[in-house]
Amino acid sequence: MTQEQIQIIKDCIPILQKNGEELTKEFYKIMFNDYPEVKSMFNMEKQISGEQPKTLAMAILIAAKNIDDLEKMRSFVDKVAITHVKLGVKEEHYPIVGTCLLKAIKSLLNPDEATLKAWEVAYNKIAKFYIDIEKTL
Ligand code: HEM
Repeated sequence: MTQEQIQIIKDCIPILQKNGEELTKEFYKIMFNDYPEVKSMFNMEKQISGEQPKTLAMAILIAAKNIDDLEKMRSFVDKVAITHVKLGVKEEHYPIVGTCLLKAIKSLLNPDEATLKAWEVAYNKIAKFYIDIEKTL
């Protein structure tokens, strides 16, 4: 990830604070529509109550804040990783989440090309961090 891309992600923090939940709601809508096979892993009550979009928005915000040093969010990710492994989340599911998250960013935030690219690179870095921890469980 370049220094410029790190800066772009950090510059998105205020937007994430403001619109993070809206973004993740759109994300789940896209994912459950395009990849219905992952739906059974999720607790739909948490979708309806808005609890899950809130949690994911927070996780994205934490990752954006720590994008230059993901180790700082290790204790947070350690907990999420346990939930993921328990519910059957696998490495191959990560590109699905990445594709849908980028689609949601594109449709809601109207990013320029460099911003979209920065998010793509950032997501891959964040996903690798989660996957590496989940592999040890
Ligand atoms: C970097 C990408 C991801 C981030 C930042 C993320 C973040 C989170 C967070 C913060 C939670 C709540 C954990 C808890 O309450 O203990 C969670 C739960 C969950 N995640 Fe992820 N996640 C990611 C990738 C994925 C992937 C690839 C899948 C599979 C498609 C997935 C499926 C789930 C499920 C099924 C739950 C439980 C939610 C429920 O009960 O409805 N996540 N995730």
